Amino acid sequence: MDVNGKVAVVTGAASGMGLAMAETFADAGMKVVLADIEEAALKTATARIVDSGHEAIGVRTDVAQLAEIEALAAATLKQFGAVHVLCNNAGVGVGAPVGETSIADWKWTLDIDLWGPIYGVETFLPLIEDQGEGHINSTASMAGLYAGASLGAYNVAKHGVVALMASLERDLRWRDSKVRASVLCPGPINTNIVDSERNREPEDAAQHISSEQGQKFWDFLTRTLANGMDPADVGPMVLDAITEEKFWILTHPEMGEVAINQTRAMLDDQRLTR
Ligand SMILES: NC(=O)c1ccc[n+]([C@@H]2O[C@H](COP(=O)([O-])OP(=O)(O)OC[C@H]3O[C@@H](n4cnc5c(N)ncnc54)[C@H](O)[C@@H]3O)[C@@H](O)[C@H]2O)c1
Repeated sequence: MDVNGKVAVVTGAASGMGLAMAETFADAGMKVVLADIEEAALKTATARIVDSGHEAIGVRTDVAQLAEIEALAAATLKQFGAVHVLCNNAGVGVGAPVGETSIADWKWTLDIDLWGPIYGVETFLPLIEDQGEGHINSTASMAGLYAGASLGAYNVAKHGVVALMASLERDLRWRDSKVRASVLCPGPINTNIVDSERNREPEDAAQHISSEQGQKFWDFLTRTLANGMDPADVGPMVLDAITEEKFWILTHPEMGEVAINQTRAMLDDQRLTR
C-alpha cells in the first residue's frame, strides 16, 4: 500500500512505540491522528509532529471505552474525511503471578490490552474498507507467543491480540478484501511501559496485590527494558509491514525460538518448556 497522503490513527501515541509510529507515518507523508489517555503527553506529542510541518491532531481517548473509540473514529472522519490505517497500540502491564492477581488487575489489563484492539477493529474496519485499501496493526508482544511466569493477565491479553489479528487477516483474505492486518510482537523496548500505573484510576490501583514474585519480576523487567531497543527503531518496522503487506513484525526475531521450542516439545514429549 502506498501510504503517502493517507490517514493513520495510532492509539497510545503519546509515548514509546506509538509516538514512534506516529512520527514515522508523518515523515512518510501520512496525516496522523494521535490517540492517548494521557492528555498532557498527548498535547506535547501532537505539537512535536505539527511543529515539524506535518498534519496531525490529538484526540484524548481511553481505548477501554467503546464510546471513546467510536468518538475517535468520528473525530478522524471530521478532520480528514477518511481513515486508511489503524494501529491498536495502547497498552499497560502489571507483574503478578496467576493466583495472586487481583480481579481489578485482570480487568484493567484485559480491558485496555485486549478489548481496546477488539473495539478498534470492530469500529474502524468498515471505515477502512470503505476506502478500498488499508491496514490494521495491533501491538501484541513476545508475551503473545510465549506465556512466561509472573505476567499472567498480560500474557492472556497479548495471546488474544495475536489471535485477533490472525483471525482478522484470514477473514480479510476469505473475502478478497484489499485491507490487510499485521501484528507487532516486540521484545524489550526502552519505553514508559514499566510505569503503566501512571494512567490508572486510584481505586483500581489500590486493589493491586503486591507479591514478592510479581515485584521481583517487575524489577527485572524494568532493568531489562532500560537496556532495550530504542522505540524510534520500531516505527519503520511497522511502516514496512504496511507498505509490504507483512503480517508478523518481530523486533527481536531471535526470541521467536522460545515459541518454536514450545511447539516442538508439545509434539515431542508433551511437556511445557521452561
Ligand atoms: N516496551 C516493551 O518492551 C514492550 C514489549 C512488548 C509489547 N509492548 C507493548 O507496546 C505497546 C506500547 O507500549 P510502550 O512500550 O510504548 O509503552 P508506553 O507506556 O511508553 O506507551 C503506551 C501508551 O499507551 C497509553 N495508554 C495507556 N492506557 C491507555 C488507555 N486506556 N487508552 C489510551 N491510551 C492508553 C499511555 O498513556 C502511553 O502513552 C503496548 O501495547 C505494550 O503492551 C511493549
